[in-house]
Amino acid sequence: MLKTHTCGELTAAQIGQQVTLAGWVNRRRDHGGLIFIDLRDRFGLTQVTIDEDSTTAHEVANQARNEYVLQVKGTVRARPEGFENPNLATGAIEVIVDEVVILNTAKTPPFYISGNADEVDEGLRLKYRYLDLRRPRMYNNLALRHRIVRFIREYFSDRDFLEIETPILLKSTPEGARDFIVPSRLHAHEFYALPQSPQQLKQLLMVAGIERYFQIARCFRDEDLRADRQPEFTQLDLEMSFVDAQDIRALIEEMLLKLCAEISTKPILQTPFPLITYAEAMEKYGVDRPDIRFGVQLFNLGEVVKESGFGVFQNALAAGGEVKGLVYPGGASLARREIDELTEYVKQYGAKGLAWIGVTGAPGADGAYGEDALRSQIAKFFSPQELSAIIQTSGAQAGDLILIVADKPAVVAQSLSNLRLEVGRRANLIDNNLLAFCWVTDFPLLEYNEDEKRWQAVHHPFTSARDQDWDKLESDPGAVLAKAYDVVLNGWEIGGGSIRIHRSDLQDRLFAVLGLNRADVEAQFGHLLEAFQYGAPPHGGIALGIDRVAALFAETTSIRDVIAFPKTAAGTDLMVNAPSPVTEAQLKELHIALRAQKAAVSQ
Ligand code: AMO
Ligand code: AMP
Repeated sequence: MLKTHTCGELTAAQIGQQVTLAGWVNRRRDHGGLIFIDLRDRFGLTQVTIDEDSTTAHEVANQARNEYVLQVKGTVRARPEGFENPNLATGAIEVIVDEVVILNTAKTPPFYISGNADEVDEGLRLKYRYLDLRRPRMYNNLALRHRIVRFIREYFSDRDFLEIETPILLKSTPEGARDFIVPSRLHAHEFYALPQSPQQLKQLLMVAGIERYFQIARCFRDEDLRADRQPEFTQLDLEMSFVDAQDIRALIEEMLLKLCAEISTKPILQTPFPLITYAEAMEKYGVDRPDIRFGVQLFNLGEVVKESGFGVFQNALAAGGEVKGLVYPGGASLARREIDELTEYVKQYGAKGLAWIGVTGAPGADGAYGEDALRSQIAKFFSPQELSAIIQTSGAQAGDLILIVADKPAVVAQSLSNLRLEVGRRANLIDNNLLAFCWVTDFPLLEYNEDEKRWQAVHHPFTSARDQDWDKLESDPGAVLAKAYDVVLNGWEIGGGSIRIHRSDLQDRLFAVLGLNRADVEAQFGHLLEAFQYGAPPHGGIALGIDRVAALFAETTSIRDVIAFPKTAAGTDLMVNAPSPVTEAQLKELHIALRAQKAAVSQ
């Protein structure tokens, strides 16, 4: 070994010992006779001190620059009184060096490794990712991710699960995104698809009698990217036989609680995790992944304002829309400019406006709010009774601000769910020190695709309906609820799964409702349907997004920060420059002729 100790481990206990360290120059300070170098490796920083008396060492140290790779030999010494650094693990000591070897030089890095990553353009960080990863914060994120994955592997291995690898070169396994496809050289004009998840294979493993399977699985989805989405990402993928939804949830809940105990000191808001139905989540939060760290909930004013004289509300209701709102606690005193900002905020989500009523005082003896007890542009459209009813339904107290959106249900949900989070941030209602898990259950099985005029699966087409709902499948597809569940942490969907259809007659009925004809079904899913005829056990499973879990525990808003080599929002890798063109010879081997650029773009 070129080192006897790491740069993070020397303390007062080693004072007097001869040591050899190796690492990178984090910072060099030249005090004339004395040179101080903070030497950095994965494990920490150690101050090494070179004085003029060791002439050769001093000369070599003089040449060292940031990010040079050094080996130093010397003696551990207590730092002089007053020079200790309690913020550093090695802050009690320094190493007085008598030999310095430059193992390698370095060009001046494009950004300071010891600086604040937030101040560096992310494109630059991604291009020089190997330098970005030298930052302790990034290293700590990767180490955290490693601990999470290791914990998961042990947890499931201890419970008789087998980790089984499934192929990457495969056939389309639809999860609602586009496939990445790979041309075949040996089979002209044919393609593999990269798996969007190991969904069908894990079901086939259940037919194979494995009973308990898991995998840390790479998944590929060609979809529009966001901070919490990458084109390739990692799932803890899991499947079990002879279980119901409750069994899977209990297993995952226990795993998550043990994981939290292992890697976090934050308190958990509620155990067992609350179960929220999809319908309740949409009604109270406007979204199927509610952040329940704070209490603000939506209320529905449909009944209360249906007779009112406010055209905006009337028209929305008449067109089949909704009038819903939420309370901004203590918001009655916001400046007009701040209320306008909230209006602009909801407009991003399609709302046409934001109606508001500030409750500035208490109602009179008759229960009606006088003019001086309200601050609002729309109060004039309502009778005193209607105003009292609006305020009562909202639950607003004196000092609060009521915010209302009237529109199509989807626009109301989008704008109010986001407004709720914005109010949470602005009014400081979100406790960042809490871990708030919940389960969302009873999702609809199917949704109607207006563009294509057909029903499609909300999750994937192997999800089972609830037992009591199968007889509505053909007559009222929209009312059928699924045996599906998502697990949500602090407003992020971290996982989702379901109990599957294991009988081919039921699977056939579902495909029929999805409008798939026999030939399509055969071509896409024939292998699965055939397998189900050989004694498929009842089974179900779940997949957790490892990147999202790691990002939440690393307290970053972007999953890129917990992936060693992530792609940009445009799906590119700036370091290796991918995707990139291939040679004509490669294309020929793959039987591929490229279309003209223009045609390809316009399609
Ligand atoms: P689903 O599509 O819900 O289910 O995915 C499961 C979890 O994977 C994570 N995830 C992502 N993470 C990063 N980037 C992405 N593009 C991305 N897409 C999904 C999320 C999500 O909750 N086969 C089913 C699981 C099952 O039914 O067992 C599936 O893949 O955290
Ligand atoms: P107007 O009648 O356009 O002057 O709007 C009166 C108030 O109603 C303003 O505060 C608007 O922001 C608000 N408003 C307009 N459209 C909507 C809507 N669809 N939902 C809620 N408030 C609205």
